[in-house]
Amino acid sequence: MKVLLIGGGGREHALAWKLSQSPKLSKLFAAPGNPGIAEHAELVDIDPVDHQAVLSFCTRERIDLVVIGPEAPLVSGLGDALRAGGVAVFGPDKAAAQLEGSKGFTKDLCARAAIPTGRYVRTRNPAALDDFGLPVVVKADGLAAGKGVIIAETRADAEAALASTEGDAVIEEFLEGEEVSFFALTDGVTVLPFGSAQDHKRVGDGDTGPNTGGMGAYSPASVLTPQLEKRVMDEIVRPTVRAMAEAGTPYSGVLYAGLMLTADGPKLIEYNARFGDPECQVLMMRLESDLLDLLLAAAAGRLDKAEPPRFSDRAALTIVMAATGYPGTPEKGGPIGGVERAEANGGKVFHAGTAVRGGALAANGGRVLGVTALGASVAGAREAAYRAVDAIDFPSGFFRRDIGWRELAREQR
Ligand code: AMP
Ligand code: GLY
Repeated sequence: MKVLLIGGGGREHALAWKLSQSPKLSKLFAAPGNPGIAEHAELVDIDPVDHQAVLSFCTRERIDLVVIGPEAPLVSGLGDALRAGGVAVFGPDKAAAQLEGSKGFTKDLCARAAIPTGRYVRTRNPAALDDFGLPVVVKADGLAAGKGVIIAETRADAEAALASTEGDAVIEEFLEGEEVSFFALTDGVTVLPFGSAQDHKRVGDGDTGPNTGGMGAYSPASVLTPQLEKRVMDEIVRPTVRAMAEAGTPYSGVLYAGLMLTADGPKLIEYNARFGDPECQVLMMRLESDLLDLLLAAAAGRLDKAEPPRFSDRAALTIVMAATGYPGTPEKGGPIGGVERAEANGGKVFHAGTAVRGGALAANGGRVLGVTALGASVAGAREAAYRAVDAIDFPSGFFRRDIGWRELAREQR
């Protein structure tokens, strides 16, 4: 099997690492990839924005499967262009990727299918705020790279948020509870649970400071008990997949549900049309099944015949090392040493934003490395991951010291 992986972050390094363990893989290409992915794949210089260029490459190289990592190419219809050209794709087409690409689309679908989510209205009119308490959530409808959500504590802040939002907006009830990420693989009909994780979105220790793409994650998230997971599958994920099929826009790929575990049960905060990052890194560490088999089955519409994904009982934890300045303007070019030492210490280092400069590894992005480890418990995985982080020499970088704190508190109890 020849596979082309689209993307070049920590998520894609984790996917490349796992795909390369499949005995069925004969050759992996990645566009654009990164220096970590290059250990498993041949990097190719094609721009995923140019759908026809990707299709020509696939035809020329007889690619059996394209795995699309990030949301932007999904939302822009790369999947549609490849499928139209006869190439198998893991990832939804443009119409289905609206589950991530338009918050209003998803909220309307939830309303139609009676899927539990926060009460909402699609409008930019501040008068609509009268129907909501405080705090209230104001969201930009479209993709906003994690910057499209404002939790307003005052009416004035909510009005300012509405005024500053670009394009359409959604006003939403503030949900209280603990957040958890849940993943499911689907081919549009069959849905298989693919594990849980908890992300750490704020930049600073104690969940302080601005939102980021995610500063660390662990899996499994024990707050999502088997009973709650069953409810999420029955009340949220399966009805969504069914509603998408009924609308004539079946969803195929991985569905990432951002959930709030409220006093009234699990509610959907948002969907993403891809694996989470860094969540993907902890999931891949725990996955025991052949990833290529599962992604091929999803792409081919035969997940009903696939063996359900098996995960290790062990816990995994990722600590993101970011470049100073992130999530604002990150410092580029800072030298990175000690990756081999970290891996000799029991960690697995996934590259997110790195480059090779003059033969040496350097920072080349906001989130730079995802230092990951397994353990018998989250506490154990955390110890191993911090040991590995401490072996890395990245003077212009920083990381959170408290990844996994909620789970640690639970384990201690
Ligand atoms: P998103 O960009 O949709 O991932 O939202 C960013 C973060 O905003 C989420 O991870 C939640 O922490 C928070 N958030 C979004 N919607 C709500 C809501 N209705 N109630 C409470 N928090 C929310
Ligand atoms: N870690 C959050 C995300 O991937 O959206």
